[in-house]
Amino acid sequence: MDIAVIADPAARAAHAADLVEELLTGRAEPVLGVATGASPLELYAELERRRERMPRGLGAFALDEYVGIDPRDPRSYAGVVRDHVTVPLGLDPRRVHVPDGRAADLAAACRAYEEAIAASGGVDVQIVGIGTNGHIGFNEPGSSFDSRTRVVELAASTREANARYFDEPSEVPTHAVTQGIATILSARRIVLLAAGAAKAEAVAAALEGPVDPACPASALQRHPEVHLVLDPDAASQLRGVAASSVRG
Ligand code: F6R
Repeated sequence: MDIAVIADPAARAAHAADLVEELLTGRAEPVLGVATGASPLELYAELERRRERMPRGLGAFALDEYVGIDPRDPRSYAGVVRDHVTVPLGLDPRRVHVPDGRAADLAAACRAYEEAIAASGGVDVQIVGIGTNGHIGFNEPGSSFDSRTRVVELAASTREANARYFDEPSEVPTHAVTQGIATILSARRIVLLAAGAAKAEAVAAALEGPVDPACPASALQRHPEVHLVLDPDAASQLRGVAASSVRG
């Protein structure tokens, strides 16, 4: 794993954007995997500054969406992707995909999402954040490493963390549609972004702990091309090899 620990948020975003751009450049219809949440927002702003260099025909697949939320609701992940990725980067909305959390048949919609990813040729660069409980996407602890896109129940800690986007904690949806761990691992390159001391334990467990569904992000140890872009606080509990990779 390649680990960059960079204190300055702008420099961190620039490094992550370099990792994204490097793999997209030169591909006719490249595909970006996009996370929502706070962690990738600086990166998306940096990609917007590089908009002219983004390949034409760039497509995107979101990691997840709440079940039952209207895609026009700004708190929906469809809304976040539209506001921070599709519009700022000038992507063709027909090439931007977010799981349908309101499908009448969610299981069929999940299968269709997997098929759409495969039909696109697969994700070139997948951007992921990490939950304080080690989740990636909404694959909560205990998720199978073989999992594909499906409906999941959100952990209490995830609903608490995301309550900041809602008026009342009780308004946070209880379920979501998420790409599975196997789906995420099928991306060619994975760039994980994490900042803040609250992420330190999860980052250390993911990188240096056992590869175990108790920490879903530990599955990343099985992927050949993972890049971590961390701030010093998120990296503060790394020991051993990972700690020696600090570069900024
Ligand atoms: C969001 C997602 C989640 C977040 C994670 C971290 O699409 O899949 O796994 O990446 O919960 O969220 P932030 O970045 O808000 O700390």
